[in-house]
Amino acid sequence: MSLRNRISLFFPLVTLLSVGCGSTSDQTATASQAVCQGLPPLAVKSTYRVGFAQLWEANGPWRNANTASMQDEAARLGYELIFDPGTSSDAGEQVDRMAALIDAKVDAIFLAPHDEAVLAPSVVAARKACIPTFIVDRAVNPTIAIPGTDYVSYLGSDFRLEGEQTADWLIERTKGKAEIIELEGTVGSSPGVARKQGFDERIKTEPGMKLLVSESADFDEAKAYSATLRLVPQYPSATVIYSHNDAMSYGVITALEELGKIPGKDILIVSIDGTKKGTQYILDGKIGEVTECNPKFGPVAFQTMLKYAAGEAVPLVIKNVDRVFDLNNAAAYLPEAY
Ligand code: AHR
Repeated sequence: MSLRNRISLFFPLVTLLSVGCGSTSDQTATASQAVCQGLPPLAVKSTYRVGFAQLWEANGPWRNANTASMQDEAARLGYELIFDPGTSSDAGEQVDRMAALIDAKVDAIFLAPHDEAVLAPSVVAARKACIPTFIVDRAVNPTIAIPGTDYVSYLGSDFRLEGEQTADWLIERTKGKAEIIELEGTVGSSPGVARKQGFDERIKTEPGMKLLVSESADFDEAKAYSATLRLVPQYPSATVIYSHNDAMSYGVITALEELGKIPGKDILIVSIDGTKKGTQYILDGKIGEVTECNPKFGPVAFQTMLKYAAGEAVPLVIKNVDRVFDLNNAAAYLPEAY
């Protein structure tokens, strides 16, 4: 059934009763009758049915590690995690999965939105249906889904800082002189947008750092491979490729080697994530630096949900702390990499 059909079936039911956040009537109204105007409360219970609307990515090592972290924590706590991995990178498909979780009347939802704007109305729909939502990994547009009203909290990395950390390492390593090809993440995604902003802002302050070209390869290994095969001959003066994630860096390395270039020697690669393969590439000399984007935040996500249920204050934004890996510390990090 399409999203529109599901919603049109649902809304006649939810308009029967309108309640405010945390009121007694919230507690007594059945979920199918309630319309919440503000943050829905979450009852303290011995177990929960929690929906997880993960975004879909093809062969994404980061995504798989993040899903596993959420699943492991739900299993450890004995909670039911309603998780449909999805079938396509089309944000509309994730909107449909959000609608299905709302229809299923789960107790709470964790959403990792594929697109900042497209998924925001689904967060508002969950709030109206009295289901507290926690945004994880990527942000939603705060002018459509209002923090603290439409969703409880956002947990994830500081993507802008990741871009800055990557640029800072690169400036130091190249002594402020580089010609850069930038491969961006998914267009419209918060890491794609913020990693570019953070990096570009920093290199602008260095007259010797030149951005030759910047285009999206969608956080995807195969797309980064094709982009590298095309862009490197087009920009022969390039000395650096800044790839917004490790999966794309794998594609960059394959393409450079096919072009007869030595990754790490002819062209320096800087990346983001901290996968096992990416870390091994640092040790092999193929990648210069990887800024961490920690995917293992299932425990923090569920802790936050439980604090909220207990009525404790929950910050609107909970930021993961990310590290910088290069030859100095990659070997020590490798055993915990994913
Ligand atoms: O949103 C986190 C990013 O999404 C990770 O860096 C990347 O690997 C994934 O595609």
